[in-house]
Amino acid sequence: MVPRKPDILVGMQGRMSGTHGLGRAFYWPNQAPIFKADLHGLFERGPVDLEIGSGVGWFAVQHSNLFPHHSLICIERSQVRYLKLLRRAKGQAPRALPIRADVHQWVPSNLSSSSIENIYIWYPNPYPRKQRWHRKPIFERLLWILKKGGRLTMATNIEDYAHEACHYFEKVWNLEVLKSEPLPKEQRPRTHFEKKYLERGETCWEITARKP
Ligand SMILES: C[S@@+](CC[C@H](N)C(=O)[O-])C[C@H]1O[C@@H](n2cnc3c(N)ncnc32)[C@H](O)[C@@H]1O
Repeated sequence: MVPRKPDILVGMQGRMSGTHGLGRAFYWPNQAPIFKADLHGLFERGPVDLEIGSGVGWFAVQHSNLFPHHSLICIERSQVRYLKLLRRAKGQAPRALPIRADVHQWVPSNLSSSSIENIYIWYPNPYPRKQRWHRKPIFERLLWILKKGGRLTMATNIEDYAHEACHYFEKVWNLEVLKSEPLPKEQRPRTHFEKKYLERGETCWEITARKP
């Protein structure tokens, strides 16, 4: 039986759930389950930032030290990485809100227009090319939730990705690119992947754009 796509799922299931008694399956294969997070009061407590593809949560800790008055919603779809992120955030990032979900489903159903101060996308998967964030329809939604004057920061170890992102930011999405440059070799790694790339001697690029 081919499972139907769910409307919404509250709770966690690590694998396909049976249809017994429910009349339908409620976990779409190859996607993270959709969580309804408790965002109650979050936006009254100060600025809220969003990290997409948080991995194991190194950045959440850095963010918490650098911006103790900002909350950080951390979205990660991999169960294994999410659990590490959760453990790390509990101990070291009190203002982080780890969520296991796919951004495509979670963001449209949970975040409203102009609600987010900063968006971070550290080392997104570069391939397939057509699935780069700046090429996807969800990008329009990400800009919609970003406040006027809000910033989007992306990093990559693929030079072509950096140039392409810059081009899309300016020409397709009408953002103002504030920074697009390689990181200094002595950069202290902020994420797990950044550490890996810097240790290999690769050049990492960072791009920051502003919503006018
Ligand atoms: C290359 S890793 C980078 C992880 C982390 N940002 C870092 O720099 O160490 C990309 C991460 O994005 C997550 N990811 C990719 N697409 C996603 C999506 N649609 N929703 C949520 N997470 C996603 C992956 O599971 C993976 O952990």
